[in-house]
Amino acid sequence: MHHPSVAPSFVQLHQTNHAAVRAELAAGLQAQPAHVAPKFFYDALGSRLFDAITELAEYYPTRTEAAIFETHGAAMAQQVPPGAVLMELGAGSCAKAVRLFPVLHPAVYVAVDISVGYLRGAMGPLQQRHTGLPMLGLGMDFSAELALPPAATDWLAAQGVTSAPRCVFYPGSSIGNFNRAEALALLRQAHAVCADGGPGGGLLIGVDRVKPKAILESAYDDPLGVTAAFNRNLLLHTNVLLGTDFAPARWRHVAFFNEAESRIEMHLQSDGAQIVRWPGGERTFADGERVHTENSYKWQPEDFDALLGEAGFGASSHWTDEKGWFSVFWAPV
Ligand code: AVJ
Repeated sequence: MHHPSVAPSFVQLHQTNHAAVRAELAAGLQAQPAHVAPKFFYDALGSRLFDAITELAEYYPTRTEAAIFETHGAAMAQQVPPGAVLMELGAGSCAKAVRLFPVLHPAVYVAVDISVGYLRGAMGPLQQRHTGLPMLGLGMDFSAELALPPAATDWLAAQGVTSAPRCVFYPGSSIGNFNRAEALALLRQAHAVCADGGPGGGLLIGVDRVKPKAILESAYDDPLGVTAAFNRNLLLHTNVLLGTDFAPARWRHVAFFNEAESRIEMHLQSDGAQIVRWPGGERTFADGERVHTENSYKWQPEDFDALLGEAGFGASSHWTDEKGWFSVFWAPV
């Protein structure tokens, strides 16, 4: 008789390499134009500010995607086989996968996030509520490389699901942070992870779509200033990580849709000339000079379908809302 464990397992793939993080941040600040990668938004406060963004009337992606899952969950369940390894990328609070448990009936749940600390907080109580569903929290930066480490495949073997189909779940349109070439590389790796499992697996992924500029721009520049606070908090996080002396009040939130590149760009714009210093470096900013903090690509469904094909997946299907603002794609192995 198999007794399901009531505590989730955890694997931390890499200890954070602080020197490498500092070098990456310093190189971005010295670059022309200056930039800081969007993965640095998500310290404890940044994760909470992002959760607040998802509550804003103007920020449509989260609730639009949730409505698509509500409306089309049964149709999705016909594509995704039960008894799968459900592997969520960027799981964070795990809230999105939880709503899929009763629809997809996975055999095990693997939550991947850059911050295993955030996963520990979320998965303990979650495991208590789903005692029959073995859970693994995997701390790794999958934007660098997405592959299951040996400790994770050992864990899958211990659960008896080595040859179960694998469903990689990447919700929230987080794929939008990657340009086409980077997205293709990540999707190829996701395909390899799925192909290593039993037949019937695939990728379930949320993708934000091109839509009128005014709607896009208000979603990333809300009147309450929550997105502005989220953007400026990147400077506070950088102060902690690199030891910079950024004063957030001296930086203006800028967000606009770049139609030629089909992406929202977020920047922080210097209010007056200023010098930012850190141990071992400094950077002078002219009045109006910007730090580029995020790209969020918006896709046409036919282009994303082609990308999935290039990544090695079979014929994809997708579900959308009635306005055609967001799509959830199922791409079989
Ligand atoms: C988490 C990358 C999907 O691009 O919409 C929200 C991040 N930035 N508001 C997005 C974000 C500003 C979000 N993703």
